[in-house]
Amino acid sequence: MISSVQTVAVNILVTAGPTREPIDPVRYIGNRSSGKMGYEIAAAFAREGNTVLLVSGPTSLDVPDGVDFLPVETADEMYGAVASHIGRMQVAVFAAAVADYKPSMAAKEKIKKSANTLALELVRTPDILGSCRSRHGFSGTLVGFAAETENLIANAREKLTRKQCDLIIANDVSMPGIGFESDQNEVSLVYPDRIDQLPLASKHDLAHQLVRAILMLHAEKNAVND
Ligand code: PMT
Repeated sequence: MISSVQTVAVNILVTAGPTREPIDPVRYIGNRSSGKMGYEIAAAFAREGNTVLLVSGPTSLDVPDGVDFLPVETADEMYGAVASHIGRMQVAVFAAAVADYKPSMAAKEKIKKSANTLALELVRTPDILGSCRSRHGFSGTLVGFAAETENLIANAREKLTRKQCDLIIANDVSMPGIGFESDQNEVSLVYPDRIDQLPLASKHDLAHQLVRAILMLHAEKNAVND
């Protein structure tokens, strides 16, 4: 059950949008994230009186009122932005759709059409969420998303453990009308000890519910640690 909890303003970092991994000066590897879910979450935290830093890949959205904004393009840049600011945060929510792989080298000039096939070597990008506990020693409330097309809850549970999160918001991105780009979404909240399924809602309304749930979790975690 989600009820009211807000007490004092909390420093919150939110990542949102896609990353773009350059192939050459005009092409990149990207994904379908519009940024809507993450921007709505950042806006909802700010409306509740919190201090919010939104680290965002390229989107066409306006920066929400009352939110500090740090634009980035690549996964490496997003990693750097998070590494610089996570130390002063109490809550971090990772809604960005980060490319898991990037070209091993970006060509300096536009790649010309010549052969019938073109092979790109891809290398892993840093796991930004996964580095928060292990590399940056973040001890605040850590919330990730899991965008899945199969085995939604099992994969979300695996990410909860591997990335040492307090909560994973499980998003079935195989269903038409929710997830990427849509104005609506339907998610399950996967905690270490339970799952809460939230009904289909606009991303605006859902963000409000998510923010209440995350602030409640943060308050519970602090009460235990006090
Ligand atoms: O932007 P919208 O169009 O509104 O769509 C919303 C959304 C579908 C993008 C969003 O709700 C969502 O599900 N975001 C997470 C997308 C994703 O990349 O999920 P993942 O299962 O691949 O990654 C798991 C978690 O690790 C995510 O919190 C992700 O931000 C994080 N991650 C992943 C890879 C990486 N290199 N670094 C990360 O921090």
